[in-house]
Amino acid sequence: MTVSEWLKNAAQKIDHLDAELILANYLDAEDRSYLVAHSDDVIPNSDTIDSFVERRANKEPLAYILGYRNFYGRRFFVTPDVLIPRPESETIIELAKTANPTRILDVGTGSGCLAITLALELPGTEISAIDISDEALRIAQKNATHHGAKVYFHKSNLLDDYQPESDTLIVANLPYVDKKWDWIDQQALDYEPSLALYAEQGGLELIYRLIDQAPANCPLLLEADPSQHKSIIQYAAQKYQFSKTQGYIVSLQA
Ligand SMILES: C[S@@+](CC[C@H](N)C(=O)[O-])C[C@H]1O[C@@H](n2cnc3c(N)ncnc32)[C@H](O)[C@@H]1O
Repeated sequence: MTVSEWLKNAAQKIDHLDAELILANYLDAEDRSYLVAHSDDVIPNSDTIDSFVERRANKEPLAYILGYRNFYGRRFFVTPDVLIPRPESETIIELAKTANPTRILDVGTGSGCLAITLALELPGTEISAIDISDEALRIAQKNATHHGAKVYFHKSNLLDDYQPESDTLIVANLPYVDKKWDWIDQQALDYEPSLALYAEQGGLELIYRLIDQAPANCPLLLEADPSQHKSIIQYAAQKYQFSKTQGYIVSLQA
């Protein structure tokens, strides 16, 4: 089957852009313009990519089918063991760059997208990252090696087994989805790990525990749904007097 025939068939089942990305990835093409230039080429073993179309038609996220997602202009490997990086988390990178700290700790690193991006954007800063999941740490290490980023990874349940040094900037995109939220597109989340998404106490259990555990001299950049920001600031008020919000991010400082 030729490129144009395959695309026409696939577009009957899935979004045309998704079909192009699946095919470009399969053909190892630099970008989608390759498909236009090679529309009459015959695709080798085209039936092997038909299963990708079926998976996408069943609403599996494109990132898991392709095996990657771009974050802050770089490509990160993802598997169903890790959360797919979200554009709203890029604000953490912008805010951390402005703070220009000596050390950063990324809590709940997942694919490693935050820690690795920070290591590459702030080469003079020492970056550590923790996660409770062995599988996530394996993917994060793979991404760090791929990008040549120096990040110290540790397994820890929040800060139970890892103590940040004083003045470390702590960044965290921890699970904050409340299972009771009915406005969320549940089908879109079904493929991602529950460990990366959901938390008790209206989604804030882990964020509250991290606020309790963090040394007061370590500022925090926390991602949460904007509807949760007021509760977070109130919860942290005893320890952190200065607070700011931007997009999905709350920053807290003593
Ligand atoms: C929302 S994902 C964020 C992943 C990545 N930082 C990002 O922004 O794409 C949350 C991550 O926190 C990890 N996690 C969940 N509970 C944890 C805990 N108690 N201690 C450490 N990490 C935890 C999950 O394994 C998951 O990788």
